[in-house]
Parts: sequence; structure tokens; C-alpha cells
Amino acid sequence: MSENVGITISNHFLLNQQLTHGATGSFTRLLQAMVLACKIIQRDVGKAGLVDVLGRVGVTNVQGEEVQKLDELANTTVKRRLSASGEVCALVSEEEADIIEIPRQYPQGNYIVHFDPLDGSSNIAANVSIGTIFSIYRRLSPSEGESTMKDALQPGARQVGAGYIIYGSSCVLVFSTGQGVNGFTLDPSIGEFLLSHPNIKTPAKGKIYSVNEGNYSFWDEGTRGYIDWVKHGHSEHGINYTSRYIGSLVADFHRNLLYGGIFLYPADFKDPLKPKGKLRLMCEANPLAYIIEQAGGLATTGTERILDVEPNYIHQRVPLIIGSPEDVMIYQDFVQGKRTYRRA
Ligand code: AHG
Ligand code: MN
Ligand code: MN
Repeated sequence: MSENVGITISNHFLLNQQLTHGATGSFTRLLQAMVLACKIIQRDVGKAGLVDVLGRVGVTNVQGEEVQKLDELANTTVKRRLSASGEVCALVSEEEADIIEIPRQYPQGNYIVHFDPLDGSSNIAANVSIGTIFSIYRRLSPSEGESTMKDALQPGARQVGAGYIIYGSSCVLVFSTGQGVNGFTLDPSIGEFLLSHPNIKTPAKGKIYSVNEGNYSFWDEGTRGYIDWVKHGHSEHGINYTSRYIGSLVADFHRNLLYGGIFLYPADFKDPLKPKGKLRLMCEANPLAYIIEQAGGLATTGTERILDVEPNYIHQRVPLIIGSPEDVMIYQDFVQGKRTYRRA
């Protein structure tokens, strides 16, 4: 066990000077603001059901989805804490149509953060694990006036940090700043995140596949062929895969990151308004793609590395296939027609 297990996240920041991006401490302060926001959301999630934070707000967001009260609480919390850090020049939330300006009373920083304040909202009322996802970029021209849309629309390969928090049986924060992936578990008795999963590496191949099979008839032929192969091609690939799908991306991703396996949200033709699938590039696919690559895995649209996708809209959707490298590469072979499978 690493001698550093159990150190606080603040100690970890200090021990890893690379977090400070030029040793100014501003990147560390930004991460500490995100950590504080997650502790507040964890508190609200933890008491959901006891106080009036469950249920719908009665409005639909830019995604065309019903906004849950916890979505709104989480969104407000992240906006408030990151703005007050004085380290951001713009924020982009899954819940809001436009780039969020930083209130004038706060200094304008050099970072832009895309975030999904609450992922897995449909699971809130059922007490299933949900989470927060964040993705950090440096602005293209530091301290040159207002940030621009170009600052907000950078490809995922230009992220300087990314992470997620799962509000589950325990509260776990996993993030990377480009030097590997570390996981921290919240000790509620002292209100500190402590290093619990140092230097996470995902297995080269797994036995888990995670996909909403209810969309099967809306997939392209390559995706259908791959899923048929996973389910029926045991003689070819030699192992029995098992299906695990929670419907909260952070929870499905975190399990597969640790155990190995593949998560798929492919493009489907169910909703003409969402021809590229359901998941968002900037606040879901890119941050998790950054983390999985740091952990030795892969993330693709099926034909393109997620981190290379050139964004043209802050709420752009992409197909997301992510996880153990050998599994993702086999999927790519099916989607690119290099492999086929017909059930006997
Ligand atoms: P969000 O709650 O932020 O809108 O995200 C929900 C996403 C993601 O968490 C999950 O993987 C996916 O929706 C599940 O979609 P289906 O219910 O269509 O399978
Ligand atoms: Mn989400
Ligand atoms: Mn969400």
C-alpha cells in the first residue's frame, strides 16, 4: 500500500507541485474550491428525502430534460464556489444554455471549467449513486480582457485537469492533472478527503460491458454486431462477459475504471434531435476520456479519439465508448467494419 494513503487532498496538492501550474497556487485554489462545492453537494444529497430537495423544479433545461431540485442546488453550489475562488474567467454548466459570466465582485482568473453539476439525475429519487463531473482548461490568452467562446471550445486534449465525485455508499473524488489518476474518499467525521486510491490504472481487458440495451434496435450495424459478439461469441473471445448498467455515468464509469470493462453510449437513431447519442462532449465525455487515458484506457466515438474531437457548440453530444483498451479497440474494429459477427 502506498505510503501516501490517508494523506489529505490538500497535502496531496502540496506534494505534487505539478498541480500548481507555474507554482502560483491558483490551480490549487481552484481545485480546493471544487472540493468545497462537492462537500456541500454531498451534504445536500445525503439528506435528500428528509428535506424538500427531491423532485422536479417544474422547468426543462437546455438539454430538454426535467430539472431536479438537486440539479439546481448542485449547479448553484458549483457556480458560487468556483466564482468566489477568483480563479475562473468563465463557467459552462450542463444545466445552462450559455457561458456563465463571473460576477464582477470576483477577480477574473485564467481557468474555464465545464461541469455536469449532477450526473444521473433520473436516479436521485431511487437513492442510486449520482455524481458531479468537471473539466478544467486554461484560457488561450491569459489576462487579455474578457474570455471568449474560443476559450470555452477547446478540444479535450487541452484539458489541464478533470475529475468526478460519486455520492454513493461513500463519497469518492477521482481526478487527474496529467500525472496519473488518484482517488480520495471523504471521511465525514473530519470533513476531509483522504487519499484512498493512489495511482489508479484500469485493467487492459475486462469482463463487464455497460450499455442501455433498450436502444439496440436504434444502433448502427457495427455496434449491434459488437454487442451480439460480447453476448454470444464466447467461443471466439473466450470469456463470459457480464452486463452491468446503473444509468449514472459516473457510477458505471468508476466501477469499470477499477474492475475493467467497457461502457458504451453509442449514437442511436431514437431521437432525431440527438443523432450523436445522449452524452455531452464538454462536461461528460472529455473529462472521463482524460481520466481513462491517464489510467491506461481508451475513449472513442467509434471512429475518433474523444480528446481530439473539435468542439463547435458548448452542449455538443458525442457517442462515448470508454474503458479497458483491448475492449475499446475490439469495438472500434466492429464499428469500422474490420470485424463482424453473426449469431449461429
Ligand atoms: P444527467 O443526469 O447529467 O443528464 O446524465 C444522465 C446520463 C448519464 O448519467 C447516464 O449514463 C445516461 O444518462 C443514462 O441514459 P439512459 O437512461 O438513456 O440509459
Ligand atoms: Mn450527466
Ligand atoms: Mn446532469
